[in-house]
Amino acid sequence: MATSVKPLRAAGMNALVTGGNAGIGYFVAEQLASAGANVVLGCRDAGKAAAAATAIREQIPGASVDHMPLDLADLQSLKSSVDTLELDRLDVVVLNAGVALDSPPRRESVDAYELMFATNHLGHFALLHWLAPLLTAAPAARIVTTGSFAARSERLDLDDLQSTESYDPKRTYGRSKLAQMSFGFELDRRLRTAGSPQLSVVVHPGGALDSLTPARAGVHTRSRTQQLLGLPAGLLLHGKDAGALPAVRAALDPDVSGGQLWGPRQFGLRGAPHVEQPHGHMTDPETAALLWTKSVELTGVDPMAAWDNVPDTPPPAGDRWF
Ligand SMILES: NC(=O)c1ccc[n+]([C@@H]2O[C@H](COP(=O)([O-])OP(=O)(O)OC[C@H]3O[C@@H](n4cnc5c(N)ncnc54)[C@H](OP(=O)(O)O)[C@@H]3O)[C@@H](O)[C@H]2O)c1
Repeated sequence: MATSVKPLRAAGMNALVTGGNAGIGYFVAEQLASAGANVVLGCRDAGKAAAAATAIREQIPGASVDHMPLDLADLQSLKSSVDTLELDRLDVVVLNAGVALDSPPRRESVDAYELMFATNHLGHFALLHWLAPLLTAAPAARIVTTGSFAARSERLDLDDLQSTESYDPKRTYGRSKLAQMSFGFELDRRLRTAGSPQLSVVVHPGGALDSLTPARAGVHTRSRTQQLLGLPAGLLLHGKDAGALPAVRAALDPDVSGGQLWGPRQFGLRGAPHVEQPHGHMTDPETAALLWTKSVELTGVDPMAAWDNVPDTPPPAGDRWF
């Protein structure tokens, strides 16, 4: 059985999940499909996307699942990725895909940026720019950004965003997640200033382990031994199916507000989703504004451009209002 997200409803909604082929993103996609959404899996491997779509349809017969080719580590490719979407609007985007390296050497993206900062933050920042016309076409779209508890102990070094001066994989990962969270909160402030009905919500999955995650044919296998070895960890952590719940709640719950942080209830590590108080360094508007400016410089695009270009008065009669 798919993890239930009832009573959340998504019938008629279009939802894109980056990294929807594996891990938490797979379960976000499955749970959104279970709630009735037309789900698009944004992923770089067509074979993995097909396997995930099959697995979702096995859980939810009749589910509507598509694939958008997506490589977040290649900024130039993002516009053509979005151009493949055959949608008139996007109601939900879950910015979930992520890379976490645990050992050196420092690696770079196609654009010669540090790989984790490039994939996790810059790729999603630029993707959102290209998605903005579809998001503004929806009545009240939600943009859900996936952070991490790893961001709690980190601070952004705005003079060394590429970790060229000092590279520690764990710290660089934590900083990339902090950059994402800072961006998610800043995006909501900018949407509110623009008077937009769209919401930006930040989530984190707690600690979500493969060994605690139910199997899905073609996507994730778990042997009986792995299941048994994972049991003690289950006291503190949970599976990726449960790790998906904050994002699904943020995407669909009518009571969610923009600028909120959702995470698991028990010590921020496991359990049902609840609203958390973000740490001050995650919501600092000065740091976020500087990060935004640098992100525009590094990607060449601004996600708010589409909102800034929305005319605030109707066009003359006979003109189309794009
Ligand atoms: N698991 C946890 O305990 C935990 C804790 C805190 C935060 N998070 C965050 O939660 C999110 C999901 O984590 P997870 O544990 O589910 O990770 P995962 O199982 O490793 O899955 C990562 C997903 O991201 C995709 N991805 C990686 N690089 C990409 C790129 N360049 N372009 C497009 N997609 C790319 C992967 O695609 P491929 O299959 O092609 O590699 C995969 O679908 C991440 O943002 C992570 O930082 C996880």
